[in-house]
Amino acid sequence: MKKKIAVLTGAGISAESGIRTFRDAGGLWEEHDIMEVASPSGWQNNPELVLEFYNRRRRQVLKATPNAGHKALVALEEVYDVTIITQNVDSLHEKAGSTKVLHLHGELLKVRSVANPELIYPWEKDLSMGDCAEDGAQLRPHIVWFGESVPMIDKAIPYFAEADIVLVIGTSMQVYPAAGLIRYTLPYAPIFYIDPHPNISHELALRPALRTIRSKASKGVPEVVKQLMKDGGDS
Ligand code: OAD
Repeated sequence: MKKKIAVLTGAGISAESGIRTFRDAGGLWEEHDIMEVASPSGWQNNPELVLEFYNRRRRQVLKATPNAGHKALVALEEVYDVTIITQNVDSLHEKAGSTKVLHLHGELLKVRSVANPELIYPWEKDLSMGDCAEDGAQLRPHIVWFGESVPMIDKAIPYFAEADIVLVIGTSMQVYPAAGLIRYTLPYAPIFYIDPHPNISHELALRPALRTIRSKASKGVPEVVKQLMKDGGDS
């Protein structure tokens, strides 16, 4: 049986594909007020501003292409049973060819009815006020906003609980519950954290088998993948 790898990715893996991160210098949250563009109250106060924010992000994501970090994770599937749990709302893991990707914070290329969270549609153009779902309700970005629950977290937990190896790539580990997924991993499962400026969170600091690789994703991920491929994926 193939060994299981759970991969937690954040904005850093897509940085070299031209998609801005949130909390780095020059990141999105320097320029935008989170509560204005990414919260239920922001949506209530000024939905046009929220739509414009995500329309710009969507246009950017449609133009972006996967980098060596995304691609290396695809190669890893040849040897391991790999599941990617991403905080990213872009679709670069899928574009690269990864087959098991779970989006914790939603997807930019999907929209949903404000009245029924089950009514979700693929969406590639700009979204405007007046664009409605089949229930007649306004469509909103299929994004988890601050203050909203993260329904995919329950699906994500077992992948970390059962993982033989964990990779954490390009995330500041500041946003919960995503950053808390590490708590569920087996105590001695190796955790590789690839990030040029890693943030050793409380959960990570407690891990005896943490290996920190201070590199950009395009360099660090292929290096770790090469090593894991050499080690072999059979249990
Ligand atoms: P952050 O912007 O908080 O963190 C980005 C991380 O990427 C930092 O640790 C950087 O050091 C690292 N980084 C930068 N360039 C990199 C590169 N080339 N290769 C690898 N790593 C690099 O982004 P997230 O941790 O993903 O949520 O943020 C988590 C959530 O907060 C996001 O999903 C988003 C945001 O608010 C929502 O919008 C719901």
